[in-house]
Amino acid sequence: MIIAIDGPAASGKSTVARALAQRLNLTFLDTGAMYRAVTLRVLLAGVDSDDGEACTRIAEAMDISFDENGYVLLDGKPGEPEVRGSEVTAAVSTVAAHAGVRAAIVPKQQSIAAAGGAVAEGRDTTTVVFPEADHKFFLIASPLERGRRRAQERGEPERAGEYAAEIERRDELDRTREHSPLRQASDASLVDTDGCTPEQVCERLLAHILGGA
Ligand code: DC
Repeated sequence: MIIAIDGPAASGKSTVARALAQRLNLTFLDTGAMYRAVTLRVLLAGVDSDDGEACTRIAEAMDISFDENGYVLLDGKPGEPEVRGSEVTAAVSTVAAHAGVRAAIVPKQQSIAAAGGAVAEGRDTTTVVFPEADHKFFLIASPLERGRRRAQERGEPERAGEYAAEIERRDELDRTREHSPLRQASDASLVDTDGCTPEQVCERLLAHILGGA
């Protein structure tokens, strides 16, 4: 079974997808972590993130996989927490917008899921990577709520406003790019997560998947 969950930054996709994968005994596939892995390599190599050809060469040459807990590995070595750093976060939407980078990464995502099913989350998993997924969801939350969640995660609750601004900037880039922009697939269920805990969202999705709502 393949379950695809898309939505903007900090909409709760990762937490919910990870929990759902555990409940359903499926692989958790964090597609954003793969673009973050490429971006980390791009920055370490001193390559300009606007240089699509150089970014593509890096994406094609590197091996990206996941450990048994769903954390990204770069050529077999742990990519956390470096892939979540602020420089990677600032550059990742630019790197992920290059068609060549996406062409290198999407088949890797498809082959990971083909191995036995997955709960995949990202920006284009419902539209481009797994258009035939068994279940599709599009998670949303208000920018302020998303800023609050991200600030909590990082242990800096007083910076919710700054995180919200950074998230909105990234949303805009992800939504307006030419290749595989963030958009709700017509057959994806919209799930507004404002005011809900990740557990509540996970239960809603499970009810939907197992034949309820
Ligand atoms: O979900 P995240 O914040 O870790 O994603 C990081 C970036 O990667 C995001 O700004 C856009 C990009 N991305 C993408 O283009 N396609 C995906 N399927 C997942 C993420």
